[in-house]
Amino acid sequence: MIDVRALFPQTTTDIWLEIGFGAGEHLATQAARNPDVGIIGGEVFINGVASLVRYVDAQSLKNIRIFNDDVRLLLPALPDGCLSRVFVLFPDPWPKVRHAKRRFIGPQNLNHLARVMRPGAELRIASDHPVYIQWVMEQVPPHPAFTWQVTGPEDWATAPPDHVETRYQLKAGKEGRKPAFFRFFRTAARA
Ligand SMILES: C[S@@+](CC[C@H](N)C(=O)[O-])C[C@H]1O[C@@H](n2cnc3c(N)ncnc32)[C@H](O)[C@@H]1O
Repeated sequence: MIDVRALFPQTTTDIWLEIGFGAGEHLATQAARNPDVGIIGGEVFINGVASLVRYVDAQSLKNIRIFNDDVRLLLPALPDGCLSRVFVLFPDPWPKVRHAKRRFIGPQNLNHLARVMRPGAELRIASDHPVYIQWVMEQVPPHPAFTWQVTGPEDWATAPPDHVETRYQLKAGKEGRKPAFFRFFRTAARA
């Protein structure tokens, strides 16, 4: 198991994880705004990793650690309950039915996330793809470890107040696609 606290000697509060950070603008901004939080970013796309490193360098960010590989390899090595927030922003939708198994949100990864998230931790998912939006609603609320926070009928259409627009989100907006935002919370009883 990885000692995640030891990765962030200057961090005193929480550890967050962003899965598939793309070019890293969301992760870098969150890290700059929350210097007491340590953020692990996972991304397989090497140009995205290089982009995040540029943000880290330009802003002298000390609270980011990069896992430049498939996050599915990292999750089993994380200790129980070590994360207080996980971001999955605009994951690859894999909209064809025959590719559904490739979607990041699914039973196996949700079980891993349930284990590594502490009670009350937030799983924040955003997507602009109708197939994936439907998929998230089918996959996450029935999972016993997660509760969907809905504050109103149009809740899903509004970005959380601390959200940072991502490059992929901007592109989707320009092409007329409307994103949905989901905030799920790890239930207190471990499932
Ligand atoms: C559609 S892009 C969105 C990127 C970014 N979140 C944004 O909103 O701009 C999805 C990203 O997830 C990354 N990705 C997909 N599966 C991954 C995995 N298992 N581990 C790490 N990164 C992954 C891809 O390389 C890609 O950069």
